[in-house]
Amino acid sequence: MTDKTILRALRGEVLPTPPIWMMRQAGRYLPEYRATRAQAGDFLSLCYNSELAAEVTLQPIRRYGFDAAILFADILLLPQALGAKLWFENGEGPRLSTLTTPAELAGLRGKDDIHDTLAPIYETVKILARELPRETTLIGFAGAPWTVASYMIAGRGTPDQGPAHALKSADRATFSGLIDVITDATVEYLSMQVKAGAEVVKLFDSWAGSLKGQDFTDFAVKPAAKIIAALKARHPDLPIIAFPREAGDGYIGFAQATGADCVAIDNSVSPEWAAEKVQVTGCVQGNLSPTHMVTGGTDLVRETRRVVDAFAKGPHIFNLGHGITPDASPDNVTRMIEAVRGA
Ligand code: CP3
Repeated sequence: MTDKTILRALRGEVLPTPPIWMMRQAGRYLPEYRATRAQAGDFLSLCYNSELAAEVTLQPIRRYGFDAAILFADILLLPQALGAKLWFENGEGPRLSTLTTPAELAGLRGKDDIHDTLAPIYETVKILARELPRETTLIGFAGAPWTVASYMIAGRGTPDQGPAHALKSADRATFSGLIDVITDATVEYLSMQVKAGAEVVKLFDSWAGSLKGQDFTDFAVKPAAKIIAALKARHPDLPIIAFPREAGDGYIGFAQATGADCVAIDNSVSPEWAAEKVQVTGCVQGNLSPTHMVTGGTDLVRETRRVVDAFAKGPHIFNLGHGITPDASPDNVTRMIEAVRGA
């Protein structure tokens, strides 16, 4: 059995101090990230440069001593490996070729043809498995099918995932077919990350909150359950974190319904609510608002303690409710970590 604190929490242990990492911990709020990104040229070149991607993954570990490192990559690399065109508009975000027709769906590559494109990502994982401190857990990840599909259908981020909802209504077969293609490819992608050395994997369903009722069951719960069952069949001891962001009541029972070992909670729900409704049945991760990393001060310390205290009776991994933003101050991260660890 390992002593790594993140793995202990994921097994259900209640630790005196929760282990801690932060979504987007390698990112633009760090000057050393901006320097390495400039060296790589652009964001996608950084993702596919294994040495530099490993370097930016390690930067927040060196600076802060987080208990986990998350592979530096992006959820949109999988659509690219499936054959979608992908680029990033400076200051705006991702752009992809759109997918709305049966012919476009049929034109995607199969799940076994993604690895040539993604080989540099597996290489990054291998470097990290070698170079991380012994006590640091390495987390791999992928986007959940609904969130990835929403980008592939619209060709960009959308506030309400309108184009994806529209295709779901207009052409259910093409929509479901796309969800299935992503689901199957995600199993292969994550399995390769695990073979390369990832110790935990996380599924990011950033737009789960816009799926309601039966749609939430069909397109957030079921694909996650399928991916998790397939991964656990191949890697029985692999812990899996699921993040159905803004699921609200959908967080209740999500771990049981999907087989996830831990549910990551966003900051639209209170930690007291999540402790009572979600943590009673297993490990949770979260859920400090990322805005405190910008505003700091006594509110940051108070709200950090509030999250730690609310979750103190059960297994907990401290994290933000969503990614840290580029305008955050690196010093506020230090203050948050001190407040968690009681320094
Ligand atoms: O968390 C980490 O440090 C690991 C790396 C990571 C990135 N993206 C790096 C990144 C992870 C886990 C992701 C996941 C991701 N990517 C999600 C799910 C999580 C979430 O934030 O909801 C989504 C939806 C994406 C798609 C994506 N990538 C968007 C919408 C954007 C543009 C928005 C932005 O922040 O610029 C990205 C770009 C991106 N991915 C950056 C980073 C560090 C910023 C790129 C840059 O350096 O310019």
